[in-house]
Amino acid sequence: MDQDALKQAAARAAADYIDPMLTTTTIVGIGTGSTADYFIDYLAEVKHKFDGAVSSSVASETRMRGHGIPVYDLNSVDEIPVYVDGVDESNHRLELIKGGGGALTREKIVASVSGEFVCIADESKLVDTLGTYPLPVEVIPMARGAVARALVGLGGEPVWRDDFTTDNGNIILDVHGLSITDATGLEAAINNITGVVTCGLFAARPADVLLLGRPGGVDTLRA
Ligand code: 5RP
Repeated sequence: MDQDALKQAAARAAADYIDPMLTTTTIVGIGTGSTADYFIDYLAEVKHKFDGAVSSSVASETRMRGHGIPVYDLNSVDEIPVYVDGVDESNHRLELIKGGGGALTREKIVASVSGEFVCIADESKLVDTLGTYPLPVEVIPMARGAVARALVGLGGEPVWRDDFTTDNGNIILDVHGLSITDATGLEAAINNITGVVTCGLFAARPADVLLLGRPGGVDTLRA
């Protein structure tokens, strides 16, 4: 099975996993990326069973609207029982690196207010130590140089993502060369740099469940 088929299998498993949670008042939180796109396509098949969704990006919102799934502004929603999203790297504690698609800030906001965070991925995303995948950091444009110097001070090698502006109008610095053993500590340290909107470490609020597509089937990992 290729990587895409494994992503698709994880997305299918997530649709089955959340099905019992769906009622006509349920709002589902939706992530961003190719695995999340597969999930949106499966969710569309049961759109009559739930009220609508809160999106973590313009791209996912557009895809959902194309399927006729109602999309709500987070400020108009009281409760998100479940959030489903992909990942760039997860360790065995389900601490994550996210933001390959640049949607990390909105993803982190939706994850932070959701009851259960269900992560979906192919098996290549599970690692022993986070950091081989460059850590995305969303930065206010005027602070690019200052934040980059601070990230070097933390042991990283930041690279300005070419030709990319986030949905919030900011830039991304992708930080290479990290071997992350204290994800919660590094998340706090980076988020504390003035000019950083947020970093793509999801450790203070890790995933609750990781549905991992493997050639033999989808494994369920819990934190
Ligand atoms: C977007 C993300 C994505 O979830 C992450 O990049 C994984 O993407 P894909 O499912 O395409 O492999 O964090 O900001």
